[in-house]
Amino acid sequence: MNIRRLTVEDLPRLREYWRKHWGDDFVVAHGVIYRPETLNGFLAIEDDEWVGEITYSVSGDECEIVSLDSLREGHGIGTKLMDAAVDEARTRSCRRVFLITTNDNLHALGFYQRRGFDLVRIHRHALDETRKLKPGIPLIGMNHIPLRDEIELELMLK
Ligand SMILES: CC(C)(COP(=O)(O)OP(=O)(O)OC[C@H]1O[C@@H](n2cnc3c(N)ncnc32)[C@H](O)[C@@H]1OP(=O)(O)O)[C@@H](O)C(=O)NCCC(=O)NCCS
Repeated sequence: MNIRRLTVEDLPRLREYWRKHWGDDFVVAHGVIYRPETLNGFLAIEDDEWVGEITYSVSGDECEIVSLDSLREGHGIGTKLMDAAVDEARTRSCRRVFLITTNDNLHALGFYQRRGFDLVRIHRHALDETRKLKPGIPLIGMNHIPLRDEIELELMLK
């Protein structure tokens, strides 16, 4: 499996990918709409196929992971994509890497914490606002858990 940088040629396919996996061609976190053309990222490629993607946004000394998806779970793809983004954040002298996940995503909460991320904030009922921007978000999320809150996790680099 190879990791390569996301390029402008990849954007139409990334939009399609997000539509399929996240219900639309944009993602919303802490009330902000993120579109692929405003982000940097990496792709995981195996046999010419996309098997994962990560996107991030660097602002000042902070790097926000906006999306992370693995299409073949448990083969190290998510870890490699995260490592690539954290390396990039270090190269760009970021103080911290942070991300938002939702209260229902127990698998992702475990994945990030096992990789050194701390839970730092809970934005209670943040999904009420997110649904105004993205009405397709279901009321019941993963693991049959009501999808309500945003949870912020961070990895300090310095
Ligand atoms: C969270 C997510 C990105 C993880 O991706 P992944 O490719 O499964 O991640 P990895 O394979 O690197 O790691 C998963 C587990 O497999 C194990 N693993 C890694 N390589 C392995 C290998 N070659 N053989 C066996 N197990 C392996 C890892 O040890 C890890 O377990 P751990 O977390 O207990 O350490 C993925 O589950 C996903 O896409 N979820 C849906 C989208 C999502 O929720 N994204 C996050 C939104 S905030």
